[in-house]
Amino acid sequence: MVYEELAGEEDEVELPRGDVTERVVRVGSTVRRPVHPPSAAVADYLKHLEEVGFGGAPRFLGRDRAGRDVLDFLAGEVAGDPPQAWAADDELLASVGRLLRQLHDASEGYAADRGFAAPPGSRWFRWPSPSSSESSAVVAEPAPELVAHNDVTPQNVVVRDGQAVALIDFDMAGPTARVEDVVNTATHWVPLRAPVDTWPGWSRTRQPVRLRLFADAYGLTAAQRASLVDVALARADRMWLSMRGAAEHYGGGWAQMWHDGVGDLIRRRRAWLVDRSDDLRGALE
Ligand SMILES: Nc1ncnc2c1ncn2[C@@H]1O[C@H](COP(=O)(O)OP(=O)(O)OP(=O)(O)O)[C@@H](O)[C@H]1O
Ligand SMILES: [Mg+2]
Repeated sequence: MVYEELAGEEDEVELPRGDVTERVVRVGSTVRRPVHPPSAAVADYLKHLEEVGFGGAPRFLGRDRAGRDVLDFLAGEVAGDPPQAWAADDELLASVGRLLRQLHDASEGYAADRGFAAPPGSRWFRWPSPSSSESSAVVAEPAPELVAHNDVTPQNVVVRDGQAVALIDFDMAGPTARVEDVVNTATHWVPLRAPVDTWPGWSRTRQPVRLRLFADAYGLTAAQRASLVDVALARADRMWLSMRGAAEHYGGGWAQMWHDGVGDLIRRRRAWLVDRSDDLRGALE
């Protein structure tokens, strides 16, 4: 699908940099992103979301002459890194939970049609596989139920009037379980982080209350609530291996993150989850 340039779409404005993708730019009402292996699968997923009327994602508009993906630019505020204190608002957290639920509900039909497969010739983002001895030491990921975003960080949510209105940056989309994407989103937004890693202006003590708020806004089932802390612990173990693997195999921004200590940050999170697990479990009941 070739994107037809509109008149006046000449000036490129560089957008804030994330950890991995280089040169994401705004051109008029569009965003241009470099093509990479999951691009075609992501484009197909975004087309599905558009078809079912999910308004919380940019439309995929095609490829431009420079071979880049073209997406809608979505007006609003996006938090920086580290996320500002305004992003710690409880109402915003609840709206992120509702938006994630809408995404998951809108994705079910896609998963059923596709059997969780990316379209022919394309593939979803994949973490490098750890060695079998290492992977046998961690709890396996729950069986996939649908395709979802998998990277709902404050830097990947568009906010208007204090409400989350859209998700951007679907680079890590792919098959997952609902509770897994919920845990990942809660990790970034509650956040589930050790106090030493909590950002300025964000609560260091109200995480159990905020986790409950998020779970209620999403509408987690009793069974999902009961499993959440265990899913978070298992995910911390897997993510440590995944981030180290990505640093080794993909290099670039992944290697930089590892160098900057993301592995230790995950270990501190895990220890904190163990420490606070009774409070977190209690808040979810
Ligand atoms: N469709 C969009 N609408 C509005 N703003 C966008 C859009 N896409 C990107 N942005 C802005 O540009 C920033 C970077 O874009 P994006 O999240 O797509 O890439 P990235 O974070 O650099 O990638 P990665 O996470 O792979 O390193 C976002 O945090 C957001 O501020
Ligand atoms: Mg991003």
